[in-house]
Amino acid sequence: MELSRRTFTLNMLGSMLTLSLVKSLAEVEVLANSVRPIVRKWLIEMESATQQLRLGRVKTTEWQSQIESLLSRVDLADLLKAIDFDRLAKTAVFPEDHESAEDVDFSRNKGLPEELSFAPYFYAMRKGAAIVPHGHRNMTSMHMMLKGQAHCWQFERVAEDAQYLTIKPTTDKVSEIGAVTTVSDHKDNIHWFKALSEPVFMFNIGVFRINPSEDFNGRDCIDPVGGEKLKDGLIRARRIELKKAYELYGKS
Ligand SMILES: [Fe+2]
Repeated sequence: MELSRRTFTLNMLGSMLTLSLVKSLAEVEVLANSVRPIVRKWLIEMESATQQLRLGRVKTTEWQSQIESLLSRVDLADLLKAIDFDRLAKTAVFPEDHESAEDVDFSRNKGLPEELSFAPYFYAMRKGAAIVPHGHRNMTSMHMMLKGQAHCWQFERVAEDAQYLTIKPTTDKVSEIGAVTTVSDHKDNIHWFKALSEPVFMFNIGVFRINPSEDFNGRDCIDPVGGEKLKDGLIRARRIELKKAYELYGKS
């Protein structure tokens, strides 16, 4: 009798301890939920595709289709959580004649190297502001619409000289939430976005200096609207300075 009472008491104590331990763990879990490292398969796949690109194991155009298909299948709510959308949206700034870019921090995600192969950003635009028409060299990038609507134009870089780029239009459409576009040296090199609503938020990644031994520059800005129309829909667009591009295309 004595023994069983003791056992009973011990069992009770054990259960109570277990209960309170479970409760505290649950509380810790809730508190730490926002900072708890988690595994996001899509993010690991994005990093892995970019590593392969940097190693020369996948072509830029393959990277483009891999990233586009990966991000068009991703759960948008999870992506927003991963980039800390609520905080970024709250603190976003809206320059008059161009977009703003804020760093995205993925360091709390498990399974990623300390240094990512790509640079992630959060872009914000007021209505009428634009990411001015430009191309890139030795880099790829991805833009994904997170909020609002933007007009998106893309062009192939067909030929170039010191003063002009000959381009061919490939995309002219309104991008809605979830729409993903990419650029590379080999496909859809030039892009241009204009915010049709306020605010427009985008998730962006850039893969800079893919080939370390080749030249890399930020943006080759051009003036497609003022360009000379050639046969087969081609346009001969002059190269312009970033400041001039902001003036011509930055706001409307
Ligand atoms: Fe760009």
